Amino acid sequence: MKALLLCGGEGTRLRPFTHTQPKVLLPLAHQPILFHILDSLATTTIREVVIIIGPNGKPIVELLRKTNPWGFVFTFVDQPTPLGLAHTVLLAREALGNTPFLMYLGDNILDEPLRPLVNRFVREKPDALLLLRRVKNPRHFGVAQIDGKNVVHVEEKPVKPQSNLALVGVYLFSPAIHQAVRVISPSARGELEITDAIQQLITEGKDVNYHLFSGWWKDTGTVTDLLATNQYLLKKLTSAVDGEVKKSTVKGVLKVAQGSTLKNCRVKGPVTIGAGCRISGSTLGPYLAVGDGTEIVDCNLSHTLVFADAHLKGVTLTGSIIGERVRINGQQKMAAAHSLLVGADAILEL
Ligand code: G1P
Repeated sequence: MKALLLCGGEGTRLRPFTHTQPKVLLPLAHQPILFHILDSLATTTIREVVIIIGPNGKPIVELLRKTNPWGFVFTFVDQPTPLGLAHTVLLAREALGNTPFLMYLGDNILDEPLRPLVNRFVREKPDALLLLRRVKNPRHFGVAQIDGKNVVHVEEKPVKPQSNLALVGVYLFSPAIHQAVRVISPSARGELEITDAIQQLITEGKDVNYHLFSGWWKDTGTVTDLLATNQYLLKKLTSAVDGEVKKSTVKGVLKVAQGSTLKNCRVKGPVTIGAGCRISGSTLGPYLAVGDGTEIVDCNLSHTLVFADAHLKGVTLTGSIIGERVRINGQQKMAAAHSLLVGADAILEL
């Protein structure tokens, strides 16, 4: 089997951060979202990954050419205009060949092992195996109706959902999907919907099965989702101090990468600190992830993401995302917490 990984989204709801980076490269718990997904794919038998990239996707190609600890064979396919999930299947036709594939929407993080799913698909050979999860707000998703082991109807963001079973952004398909994506028409939002292609398979009498799971799942479309996902990933962190921690108190899980120093700090884990950071006189955590090369002096930071090479002085932040190379200079360590969303290279005097 191959994987088709969709990384073409513009991430408009995540601006300003997606002005400077593709959404899948935004780091959560000190790793790009994409790497969390590839870690999870690496547990399966899949070794070939076709990646759909949008107009801002060049950094994805550059990063994966340099960094590939999983040993995947990557093929990159351009999607110049976002014309829908089924459109990406059309674009990837040649790269996928006649191999069954696992399609993964690059903004989804879920707590469900993929290996048993892939193994089941290979063993049972249906035409589609969909991952479903019960949700409170089915109108925001593709929704499935089931009967026994089969999916009998799917609809994209229905006004009157017939069930609370949402299509999670992970699908396994046989090559039969290639025919289905060719016969559907664009939806009301002008996109070729993968949900319509799946309904086409059902109408043709093909075998569409499902796997229902109840674990953690987030489609990281908004800032709130990003922070929640960061929190979820940090909860799974294990302690590892490769840097130096001096004259500090540490409660909970702390990870410090090589070449970083923490001095006179109070840590309330989970907290992860990247490589080459200088941090002093600060209260850190809970749920703080700090990128490489960052300097933090006299700050109080919780529930926050600080991207690489930022310099923060004298600020209290919670529920914040601080972009790469941002400089914040304040005298407000003891002040009420700010919630800031600051895009790359900004300079703030508080
Ligand atoms: C897409 C799919 C939808 C699915 C959702 C999962 O929605 O069209 O069926 O439930 O992903 O994240 P979109 O994110 O394009 O609105």
